Amino acid sequence: MNKQHLWIGGQEHEAAAYTELRSPYSGELVAEVAEAGAAEVDAAITAAARAAGKMRAMPAHQRADILEQLAAKLHARREEAARLIAAEAAKPVKTALAEVDRTVQTYKFAAEEAKRIHGETVPLDAAPGGEGRLAYTVKYPVGVVGAITPFNFPMNLVAHKVGPALAAGNTVVLKPAEQTPLSSYFIAGLLHEAGLPAGALNVISGDGKTVGDRLVTDPRVNYITFTGSPRVGTEIRSKAGLKKVMLELGSNSAVIIDRDTEIDKIAARCVSGAFGYQGQVCISLQRIYVLQERYDEFVTKFVEAAKTLKTGDPFSEETDVSALISAKDVQRTLDWIREAREGGAELMLGGQAEGQVLQPTVLLNVNPEAKVSSHEVFAPIVMINPVHSLEEAIEHVNHSDYGLQAGIFTQDLRAALDASERLHVGGVMINDIPTFRVDHMPYGGVKQSGVGREGVKYAMEEMLEMKLVVFNRTLE
Ligand code: SIN
Repeated sequence: MNKQHLWIGGQEHEAAAYTELRSPYSGELVAEVAEAGAAEVDAAITAAARAAGKMRAMPAHQRADILEQLAAKLHARREEAARLIAAEAAKPVKTALAEVDRTVQTYKFAAEEAKRIHGETVPLDAAPGGEGRLAYTVKYPVGVVGAITPFNFPMNLVAHKVGPALAAGNTVVLKPAEQTPLSSYFIAGLLHEAGLPAGALNVISGDGKTVGDRLVTDPRVNYITFTGSPRVGTEIRSKAGLKKVMLELGSNSAVIIDRDTEIDKIAARCVSGAFGYQGQVCISLQRIYVLQERYDEFVTKFVEAAKTLKTGDPFSEETDVSALISAKDVQRTLDWIREAREGGAELMLGGQAEGQVLQPTVLLNVNPEAKVSSHEVFAPIVMINPVHSLEEAIEHVNHSDYGLQAGIFTQDLRAALDASERLHVGGVMINDIPTFRVDHMPYGGVKQSGVGREGVKYAMEEMLEMKLVVFNRTLE
């Protein structure tokens, strides 16, 4: 049995306690994983603080080289990496391979961005009293980055924190999700082989109280980057004091289907947005608003396409939808489906679970206050409601505590521009689903969807401190 130790100061580190990690699909034991205690968290932060000077002094081309090498090594082992994700996350292996390929891209972007860190000159003479001075800004790494990552993209959402942090010359203490820690240790091993200095990345699995709270409150950690729930994000912000904090939280993302849409061309795309990785994606397509005239046609084509999805074993190359991350989530989602039906919704597809695999579920005419509409469902459940106008559709999309990404399918330029202005979200996808993401675009939300932006370059901006230098040339 694989025993996974902690990774501190460039080497494996035994912990006092280990916990069993089981496949969410089969229940098989995958590994015994180290649980960091207070002493190990302290050791990891100490290692990161010690390595900070070395990383700060490392030339940009060397940081870029390490990240490029990591990308190459991961690409060479992409199938092994995908199997690891499939084992710990029950992510269907074809979806896991896509995640690994995206992770390679993310580290490549980080390598490129490491070479583009720069400040600017500031024309101080624009203000009376500013004459005779040369001013410029310089960017420095913040120091030690505390990264807390979720289970749903155990490689790529880790890359969105580790890549920018190292590219910017920081060191990292990473607390991976308790459900999916193995992918992070795998990356730590590859980075070590790629020549990353000891202590520049430390991985400490464990629970939120012991590890997360210490990371957030320890004064040696200069910056916190977190992806997860609004509840935990709010707690982090309240405990972090004056530390900079980046929060990427959830959503109940929506798409609008205008009356002029070619439904045949988009039905399968909408299905992939709703059910990819069992809907356990922050920008998963959860709410669909279709103009009344096209409603029946859209529902028919969508359900037809959804019926072709294969459910089951994440290791089967055929599988599209596998197990939810926990039995508790299966129960929660079944309760939410029941609540929606009691509120008048019609169940068109699914609604049942076998083991932890919830069948792709389609609900029609859902009350906006039902949890499957108003909360983040994080499961393969989608609701489709008719609307009478684009105006009404936009109101429904905006009637949400969240605002990460939204989409609209329309041929009407005016409608597209109007929606892009009025949808209150971090990103509007015109003629695409809200689930669209490539890894260098700015990514983040408004309202309870978070604070700050990821997307390598944008994440780096937050992980760098600006310093202003002013030369007074009037004293000669
Ligand atoms: C997320 O779930 O926040 C990430 C989605 C993605 O990277 O595609």
